[in-house]
Parts: sequence; structure tokens; C-alpha cells
Amino acid sequence: MAGASDTVSLLANVPFFASLDEKRRKAMASSGREQSYKQEDKIVDEGATGVGFFLILSGTTEVRRGGKVLAKLGKGQFFGEMSLIDGSPRSADVFATSPTTCWVLTSWAFESLVKSNPEIALVMLKEMAKRLRGAQGTPAS
Ligand code: CMP
Repeated sequence: MAGASDTVSLLANVPFFASLDEKRRKAMASSGREQSYKQEDKIVDEGATGVGFFLILSGTTEVRRGGKVLAKLGKGQFFGEMSLIDGSPRSADVFATSPTTCWVLTSWAFESLVKSNPEIALVMLKEMAKRLRGAQGTPAS
């Protein structure tokens, strides 16, 4: 498991956080924690109450609903934002498809991240629009 300063440099290499200066990255690194998963661990459970936001630091995951694969997500991508944004149950399962490490934020730390960093909110909105287009079968050009 990486120490606090390793986490800061890991986050610097993730486009999601690239727009933040070092001071903000440090603050964010200390408000989240790293969590490792084995292949086929269920990280998020469809229908459960959402308490965390996940950013993939290494490894691969699959988003599945009713056994159907909706998306494959890898390093630098995130999941678990939907329940934290609207307070509804998890919309899908998320499984690790290889040994995976995520950076995990609690719901209040996620809210504080989004409120104090509009750049991050924009990155997240763009990704959510892309996923919505994909789910509707109208991928962006
Ligand atoms: P949440 O509903 O909190 O938990 C399940 C997560 O899977 C969800 O947030 C999104 O992050 C992700 N997810 C759900 N549907 C899709 C999709 N169609 N494409 C990519 N990711 C998705």
C-alpha cells in the first residue's frame, strides 16, 4: 500500500486530478484512502446504499447490471458517483476483473471535492455525458 506522498504523486498522474495544484492534491490525498481488491471482488453492489466514490489507481473493473456488462473501466476512471450525487441506490454492480486498487472517498469528502473544485465537477460531467450517450446507443463523435 502506498504512503501519503505516494498517493499524491499517483493522483498527479490521473487526468481527473491533473488540474489541481499540489496543495489541493495533498488535501484530497489525505481525505481519501487506498483500497485493494482481488479479481472478481464485488466493489459496488447494485441496489445498495452508496457510501463511497472510487477512482481506479490500477487494475480493471466491469460495470454490470443483471449480469450484462455495461462498461469496462480502468486506470484513471471513476465509478460510484451516481448514488452520491442523487442519493438513490447503486445503479449497477462493479466488479474487479483483475487485482485492482482504488482511491476511495466517503460521500462527504466527495461532496467537498466537487464543491471546492469546479474543474473536477466539469471532468465528471463530461464523462457522465459520454456514459449516457453510450447507454443510449448514441456515442459521441
Ligand atoms: P452508482 O450508481 O453509485 O454505482 C454503480 C456505478 O456504476 C454508477 O454509480 C456509475 O459510476 C457506474 N455506471 C452505471 N451505469 C453505467 C454505464 N452505463 N456506463 C458506465 N458506468 C456506469
